[in-house]
Amino acid sequence: MFPVYPDLKNKHVLITGGSNGIGEALTRTFAQQASEVTILDLDKDKGLKIAKDCENLNCKVNVYSVDLTNTSELTKTLNLIKQETPIVDVLINNAGYDPRYPLLEMSEEEWNHLFQLNVVHYFITCRELLPDMIKAGGGSIIMTSSHVFWIAKPDMIAYNTTKAAVIGLVRSLATAAGKHHIRVNAVAPGWIMTERQLEQWVTPEAKQKTINELQSIPLELTPDELMGTYLFLASESSRAITRQTIVVDGGYAQS
Ligand SMILES: NC(=O)c1ccc[n+]([C@@H]2O[C@H](COP(=O)([O-])OP(=O)(O)OC[C@H]3O[C@@H](n4cnc5c(N)ncnc54)[C@H](O)[C@@H]3O)[C@@H](O)[C@H]2O)c1
Repeated sequence: MFPVYPDLKNKHVLITGGSNGIGEALTRTFAQQASEVTILDLDKDKGLKIAKDCENLNCKVNVYSVDLTNTSELTKTLNLIKQETPIVDVLINNAGYDPRYPLLEMSEEEWNHLFQLNVVHYFITCRELLPDMIKAGGGSIIMTSSHVFWIAKPDMIAYNTTKAAVIGLVRSLATAAGKHHIRVNAVAPGWIMTERQLEQWVTPEAKQKTINELQSIPLELTPDELMGTYLFLASESSRAITRQTIVVDGGYAQS
């Protein structure tokens, strides 16, 4: 169902949080483009299952189990990846979590831990992989933000702060890395009906209201609705596009 971008064939695509939800769809979608995909995720079993499925389609998926909030473990794993796999052409910083709290009723530890996952690992992967991308002559970095930045939901203050930080990182890094032909963009999804969202947050009333009243387009959003945007931003078709955040939310946010 997705267009094929011939330039993505044999490209090395690294995806954080590639075992479930939006990340799983990204892993399967890029593997179908015949890219070599490497995923970093705590859920190793699920990652290996996806890798097996992809192997049956002659696609290569490498799985590295790592806690992305542990910077030394993450740095060590990235160094191993640099030794064991080709230079990363496309980096997709995607893993994240979206807790709800009334007002600011959360501890400093909870606040910092959320930043560690939703922001700090994005910085660490860029810092560690950028030098080789520069040597290779270019690449595409895509980060997952959220339309919550525009909606500013009252019970998601910390989450929204992390997603705003991602947009800041994208904009400044894009300016700095452009001369090396490295493009940096963000995708800001709307409410995507992943397995975890359905388990943790979705109620029939909230879902109905979002789709039929808050979105301009009455469409249930699944990870598939995002894939065309990630593929486009990874491919040479978007070679003149950088520093952008593309909102994919059925026309909910007034971005
Ligand atoms: N689902 C939505 O409605 C939605 C909307 C807007 C933005 N987003 C953003 O999209 C991204 C993906 O969200 P999702 O809904 O697909 O999430 P998900 O929970 O379905 O998947 C997240 C993946 O990241 C992995 N992960 C989480 N913490 C980890 C850690 N410490 N170390 C290693 N791996 C870890 C999990 O194992 C899982 O495979 C997040 O950044 C999220 O904020 C999601």
